Amino acid sequence: MSTYISKNEKNTYQIAAKLAKKLRGGEIIALEGDLGVGKTIFTKGLGKAFSIKQHITSPTFVLMKIYRIQNKKFRIKNLVHVDCYRLDEPQELFYLGLEEYINRPDTIVIIEWADKIKKYLTKFKKIIWIKFKDKDGQKIIKI
Ligand SMILES: Nc1ncnc2c1ncn2[C@@H]1O[C@H](COP(=O)(O)OP(=O)(O)OP(=O)(O)O)[C@@H](O)[C@H]1O
Ligand SMILES: [Mg+2]
Repeated sequence: MSTYISKNEKNTYQIAAKLAKKLRGGEIIALEGDLGVGKTIFTKGLGKAFSIKQHITSPTFVLMKIYRIQNKKFRIKNLVHVDCYRLDEPQELFYLGLEEYINRPDTIVIIEWADKIKKYLTKFKKIIWIKFKDKDGQKIIKI
């Protein structure tokens, strides 16, 4: 486990980029932590590390968004961004087709508020849990 202290957004981008380098495909990145603690910023950092040009926004209302990774230098082709904040039950994610993307070698799935579906996630492999905490305006990120 690694613990990072992020002083600002840019710092969080750097931490996300560091993780991006270690990803091989098929991972689920499960983010937990309170409102405004930096989960979406971290996801944006991951998107930037994979040269995603589209603007990444929180999929709070649509629950799930798929971003294509166009740059040929990456073997990973999709970044799937899920936000469980407004999710009532994990079954909804199944209907949205999330499971077609989970543990696929060409895909990374990143989930905000993953603690809400902890039990559902136990049936999948390659989960990286990341805990975010605010401490005096700095963000503690535990991977
Ligand atoms: N070190 C930091 N890392 C990331 N964001 C930071 C940092 N310091 C301050 N911020 C600010 O904190 C906010 C984090 O917002 P963000 O949308 O990423 O939170 P979130 O965890 O996704 O919240 P939500 O649960 O509502 O989705 C942003 O406004 C950002 O500018
Ligand atoms: Mg968010």
